[in-house]
Amino acid sequence: MTDLSFLSIDKASRRVSLDGRNPAFYSDPNRVYAALHAECPTFYWVEQKQWFVTGYDTVNALLRDRRFGRQILHIATREELGMPEPADHTRHFDAAEAHSLLELEPPEHTRLRTLVNRAFVSRHVEKMKPEIEELANRLIDAFEKDGKTELLSSFADIIPVTMIARMIGIPEDMGPQLLKWSHDYVGMYMFKRTRADEDAANRSAKEFAEYVRGMIAERRANPQDDLLSHMIHTEHKGQYLTEDELISTTIVLLNAGHEATVHQIGNSVRVILESGLSPAEMFRDEKATERTVEETLRICAPVHIFQRYCLEPAEIDGVSFKRGDKVSMILAAANLDPEKFTEPLTFRPERDEAPNLSFGAGIHFCIGAPLARLELNIVLPLLFQRLPGMRITAPLRVKDVYHFHGLEQLDLAW
Ligand code: HEM
Repeated sequence: MTDLSFLSIDKASRRVSLDGRNPAFYSDPNRVYAALHAECPTFYWVEQKQWFVTGYDTVNALLRDRRFGRQILHIATREELGMPEPADHTRHFDAAEAHSLLELEPPEHTRLRTLVNRAFVSRHVEKMKPEIEELANRLIDAFEKDGKTELLSSFADIIPVTMIARMIGIPEDMGPQLLKWSHDYVGMYMFKRTRADEDAANRSAKEFAEYVRGMIAERRANPQDDLLSHMIHTEHKGQYLTEDELISTTIVLLNAGHEATVHQIGNSVRVILESGLSPAEMFRDEKATERTVEETLRICAPVHIFQRYCLEPAEIDGVSFKRGDKVSMILAAANLDPEKFTEPLTFRPERDEAPNLSFGAGIHFCIGAPLARLELNIVLPLLFQRLPGMRITAPLRVKDVYHFHGLEQLDLAW
């Protein structure tokens, strides 16, 4: 019997008390999600002062429900909603978020997404396969003879940022700087973030935006065959991306583009090694590899929570929402719904049930999903083929950055 004494569920009122920064929770959230499915799949999280949904059908429907959106200030004022004025010390962060695809709703979202999609599609993600393989092989070459490595710093951290930087057209030697900016930036999404976290995110957003502004000027003068040049020149019905939109989009692509994928490389290797199942069998062909990758995304997703504002009165699973109310979806929990998945807490690479919701659904469906999937489908089999005796050599610690889910480090030997 697992100890869930840190979790309190009042089934009648649907109130749940849980400290999101408690390592007992964020180290192994799946068992908490299982308890929530059993007792109270839609609940009011007391500490977060907000409703959360975990049921697969509820989350899937909410992701597509146009009565809810990522943005609210396009239809109501701060005053009406009782929202505080934006803080001065986060103004650079807020400016970068102002034109982020993730923070907009139609019609702005549709216009921006169409333009970004055009540029993104023109980069032909599939064509990056040989480059991902070459980079992964080169990184493995560097540590194979040592018989051991810390996989996140030597491998997982490097692949997604290098590929997205190359795709956008940012010099590869900017990798470490981009990682630093991005780590600071995503600190804003942490529960109970501190003033120091906010200052770091704001400083990095400012530096990041200034850097991108310089890159844009350079590419306007000297276009290349890269995503940034395509975004500058992509036109749809006479519309182009503005300078601020280009900056926000570049920043969101870089941040979203690697943070989740880094975590997922680590999470997947961990899940596969801990399962005791045969990697050779899991990765025997492309189809089996795809299923294995999807199963790791299902059972150990890298990003757990996404939020929506209620745009017009609506009822979800018996709970009434009014304009301006917030509701959060726990995607990682929806992936464990026993109504959809048999023995949901068990890793079964052969599983062929409902699609996981780790990349979302509806109009905000992850624009980078094809790239992330391609990277995972290439690097995971490669790692296990080249380092067949891989094993975990040190106790694992999950990062205190819930709602992201990833490891502090992953020490391996072979
Ligand atoms: C395993 C890796 C990844 C996961 C699990 C993931 C997950 C997600 C999810 C769940 C959403 C939807 C958010 C919502 O509905 O509010 C999303 C949106 C987004 N993702 Fe990803 N992502 C990953 C990798 C990437 C990559 C590699 C890129 C860029 C190259 C990227 C760029 C974006 C962007 C720009 C959006 C916003 C789309 C929109 O709002 O229209 N993501 N991602």
